[in-house]
Amino acid sequence: MGERILSTSLTEMKRAGERIACVTCYDASFARLLEAAGVEVLLVGDSLGMVLQGHPNTLAVTLDHMVYHSACVSRGARRALIVADLPFLSFTAPERALASAGRLLGEGGAHMVKLEGGALVVETVRHLTAWGIPVCAHLGLLPQSVYRLGGYRYQGRDAASAATIRQDALALQAAGAALLVLECVPAALASALSQELTIPTIGIGAGGGCDGQVLVLHDMIGANPYRPPRF
Ligand code: KIV
Repeated sequence: MGERILSTSLTEMKRAGERIACVTCYDASFARLLEAAGVEVLLVGDSLGMVLQGHPNTLAVTLDHMVYHSACVSRGARRALIVADLPFLSFTAPERALASAGRLLGEGGAHMVKLEGGALVVETVRHLTAWGIPVCAHLGLLPQSVYRLGGYRYQGRDAASAATIRQDALALQAAGAALLVLECVPAALASALSQELTIPTIGIGAGGGCDGQVLVLHDMIGANPYRPPRF
């Protein structure tokens, strides 16, 4: 089975030009299957609110839900890096984020937490990292901000918003983020960022130029109760 994949292993993969495979996962059986298929990163995404719970968005997902599903995944995975989402409003301040992340790692068995946002979460990323918690940042389409964004729309299409995404990415990397998800941004922007950043980027609807790709499991296997995204 090999040794556990760590966040440092992903940085080495980026340096070696190896692509990173990431799929969302919410239970032990799929964790085993995905790991056996060679997937390096299992993302316990708050997308579970949509594909498991049947909500129209991710806002109803609680920290307890995330801890439960992380623990299920961690019982099924021996090698993959497990990244767990900090759910809606569970990281509104650095200390609150630390307590939430502590549960995801301690009770949930995750190895890294993911949080959505740019400049607003830079201090939180710094705080988590300082306390030894690896962080995956998430820019572009932020599903937890679906009401502010006015729907699930591509981001970074004009020069000003592309520049903000770039500045946020650099600030998050400087704050200690070990991984960056780029969701629904133009392929050229994602590709340029992937070359500029030293941390690996994982794209979803962001073209083929990222260091890795992530898909929602239910989209990938054709079990999405909603209209699956084009990519
Ligand atoms: O919750 C999730 O599944 C995610 C992916 C879409 C990146 O954040």
